[in-house]
Amino acid sequence: MTLPTIGDVCPWADPEVLSINRLPMRAPFVSSARIRISLDGQWAVQRWSHPDLVTADSVGGADDASWRRIPVPGNWTLFGLGDTPHYTNVTMPWEGLPPALPAEVPTVVYRRSFRAPAQVDGDAVILHVGGAESVHAVYVNGTFIGYGTDSRLASEYDITAAVRRGENQIAIVVFRYSAQSHVEDQDQWWMAGLHREVWVETRPAVHIANVRVDAGLDGDSTGALSVTTTVACNSGAAVGVGWSVRVAVVDPSGKVRKTLESAVASDVRPYIFRGHTATVECVLPKVKPWSAETPTLYGVVVTLVDASGAVREVIEQRAGFRRVEIVDGDFLINGRRVMFQGVNRHDHHPERGKAVTVDDMRADLVLMKQHNVNAVRCSHYPNDPRFLDLCDEIGLYVVDEANVESHAWNTSLCHDPRYRPTIISRVTRMVDRDRNHACVVMWSLGNESGYGNVHDAAAEWIRSVDHGRPVHYEPAIFHTNWFDGGVGATDVVCPMYAPIDAIVLYGKSKNRVRPLIMCEYSHAMGNSNGSLADYWHAFDTTPGLQGGFVWEWKDHGISQELADGRKRFAYGGQFGDTPNDGNFVADGLVHSDLTAHPAMRELAWVHRPATVTLSGTGKGARLVVRNRQAFRNLSHLRATWELIVDGTPVKHGVLRVPTVPGGETVRLPLPTPVPKTGDVRFSVRWFLRRDEPWASAGHLVAWDQVVLGSVAIKPATTPSRRATSKATPPPEVGALDPRVTIWRAAIDNDGFKNMPEIRGFGESLRRWQLQGVDVRDADLVEHATKRTVGADGGVTFVHRITVPADLDDIPRVGVTFSVPQRFSRVRWVGEGPHECYPDRRASAMYGTWESDPDELPYLVPQEFGLRTNCTRLELVDPRSGEVLQVETQGRPFHFSATRHTASDLFSARDVTELRHRSNLVVHLDAAHRGLGTASCGPDTLPHYRVRPGRYVLAYRILLR
Ligand code: GAL
Repeated sequence: MTLPTIGDVCPWADPEVLSINRLPMRAPFVSSARIRISLDGQWAVQRWSHPDLVTADSVGGADDASWRRIPVPGNWTLFGLGDTPHYTNVTMPWEGLPPALPAEVPTVVYRRSFRAPAQVDGDAVILHVGGAESVHAVYVNGTFIGYGTDSRLASEYDITAAVRRGENQIAIVVFRYSAQSHVEDQDQWWMAGLHREVWVETRPAVHIANVRVDAGLDGDSTGALSVTTTVACNSGAAVGVGWSVRVAVVDPSGKVRKTLESAVASDVRPYIFRGHTATVECVLPKVKPWSAETPTLYGVVVTLVDASGAVREVIEQRAGFRRVEIVDGDFLINGRRVMFQGVNRHDHHPERGKAVTVDDMRADLVLMKQHNVNAVRCSHYPNDPRFLDLCDEIGLYVVDEANVESHAWNTSLCHDPRYRPTIISRVTRMVDRDRNHACVVMWSLGNESGYGNVHDAAAEWIRSVDHGRPVHYEPAIFHTNWFDGGVGATDVVCPMYAPIDAIVLYGKSKNRVRPLIMCEYSHAMGNSNGSLADYWHAFDTTPGLQGGFVWEWKDHGISQELADGRKRFAYGGQFGDTPNDGNFVADGLVHSDLTAHPAMRELAWVHRPATVTLSGTGKGARLVVRNRQAFRNLSHLRATWELIVDGTPVKHGVLRVPTVPGGETVRLPLPTPVPKTGDVRFSVRWFLRRDEPWASAGHLVAWDQVVLGSVAIKPATTPSRRATSKATPPPEVGALDPRVTIWRAAIDNDGFKNMPEIRGFGESLRRWQLQGVDVRDADLVEHATKRTVGADGGVTFVHRITVPADLDDIPRVGVTFSVPQRFSRVRWVGEGPHECYPDRRASAMYGTWESDPDELPYLVPQEFGLRTNCTRLELVDPRSGEVLQVETQGRPFHFSATRHTASDLFSARDVTELRHRSNLVVHLDAAHRGLGTASCGPDTLPHYRVRPGRYVLAYRILLR
């Protein structure tokens, strides 16, 4: 295809052509004087396998009646046009040095018609293309309008000259791959299409072209507002004398706090001309500052007034007064050190792909807030602007990241002069669009794109236009060092996946000048996030460490129906896409459909706003309540307590807590006398008193359990009521046959079972397979089982297992057996209620819990469902109420009770291959390897591994 106005030039193949006829970036706003017509909905589409094949009439005259219809916003890769999603992490889907393109560059012409909006004299008509992957060209009524790049920021075009009264035809040609793809090599699906809103809008002859709102904070409550409005004429002519801009500041209750006015600069003499801008500034005493904890927003209403005093246009921005600074190596918001309780978020929906709706975004953010997440990194590109509106409103700190990732060409592309303009443009356009948002507290230059002068230049540009936000760029420290490396491009040390030892060493170092905030940590792939609490212990107790962003929020599984009707969330390769990185695309804290993975409980706990610990003993015992928030006191929470003796709640009440300001601590006496013997624990739970925008009153926000009494496990003595005769167990008990096992269905952190060729991540699986742990299992260890039938028909098992020295670091030491089908509910005394593992159990509480057996929560079948440190497990027949009871006769055990054996789980590549058994499969473990995060990051810490040595697992099973 040839673009009519530029002959044979192929802009999509040229990294230096960033746009043609595109309007400058501006802050998004809705105006009283503009008519906006949404072009969202069904568009006709026609696909070609290469731009050169696109027929000239397809953007104009051709009849599109027979074309397919697909929705905009949307990804055409989800609509069977011949292209499927393609997942790669680092690798480009094709070979060749940048700006090489594959032989096939799928190209789709999107077409529809629209009625021209009613225009008054002098109005322009602007087309807004919210986001097109990879690049796009626009035609109106067959006339070439313009071309735009950067798939995650909008492109706007003045289409006035091409628009006719009445019906008009618009064609947007979207190229799936382009020279720009080499800087959009993020770890995600390669999709394609118009995935954000498209609209046309009138623009008044003289209009507000842009507005810049800086809402700073002096001291604790003095707002410093500066609003610069740029005015322009559609005709390109100068704005005459007498125009002015009025700015009203509206407080959260809707009351106008201040009105300011400034003339629009109109002196256009050469040299003197400084743009048609009007700046107003004011100091507002006693404002309520904005923070993620207290997201108070003010309205800034900007009115353009003409020389006659008539109002020509009114727009509104929302402002949050706040101050972001780095002082003495600490990242401060409003003068206080804040912790980043963050997650990395991609746009993803299992059906909509990249075309997430406002409701999708809100659902993500609400769920984050419900888990005490206070920060989100827009990995790895700017989101729809409404995402930032929501973060302003609900209260989340945002790291806004430019759409730059050249991971495949990590160390070269940033030095390639042909790519310099695009890197700079992607950064500066993001800042131009998003700088009015209170939620944005750092600008990120992108991800995994090497480190070069271009980054220093981009950072310096940001610093010179925005003094109010630090710059963030991980590769600047990755390719240099944490102490004095990369200072040109990053104001924070923002490593990914660094081990705890390393960050603690840095935090404590006297040579440290920058705060450390992990841009990625605790890789949430499958059953993961081991040591999350260890990270938070380090963050909380080490100077210089200020939290981080878990990788990542959501699995990117895509809904897929197989030919036989079975459904699954597909991962890389399941569309026939090659090369691919398999299920590495599924590494979220939540499932593709937003169901929370069990680790979300641990996440909510490590982020909890209030902690309760115990100090002193006996009469001197005190509850220490700490408010971990920076700003808010705890009065929005209602605390309850519960006394648990030997796993059973015996007393409860309301905990009266005085006002505890942010960062402060109070000591409270125990509200009830506690027994001197037995296993005595005291739980405190904090609930929302009132509805918040992100949760209803009664939502459980925080919890803690302190241990008051020694944990003495008494051998169980419950008599069996079902003994048939002395020393003869009931048949269902007699038939139980616990088998020693040291194998677990490998988790993603153990190794990628579906991608054995990938090296350098979790290596345990490979080692276990070499050792034969998966096949020979218990044959590799010495073990003996003693079975004794008690007088009441209860059967006691004592397994003595010796793990030899050459079998260091195995999955587990335990037994497994299956129970009759009628026992289908699970009750236990131990840690819970949610899934927990030795290195992910800080959030668990000891008590008596009951549930249905767990269903696999992870995309790829793997070990799941453990509960740690249990003294009793009851498998319940819900019909008869009969219970098959397993009681420890020694140390507490870990257990799981699911419908799958380890080999069912290990042999299935996805849920469609997973065998469900009707009988529950029980595991009892004397030891179980922690989870770690080795699928990307540190392996399970040594003290959570299963070592050689002697293990004893003793328990009694009876029917009652
Ligand atoms: C990081 C990268 C992320 C993601 C993650 C692993 O290196 O920044 O985009 O690939 O690793 O899941």
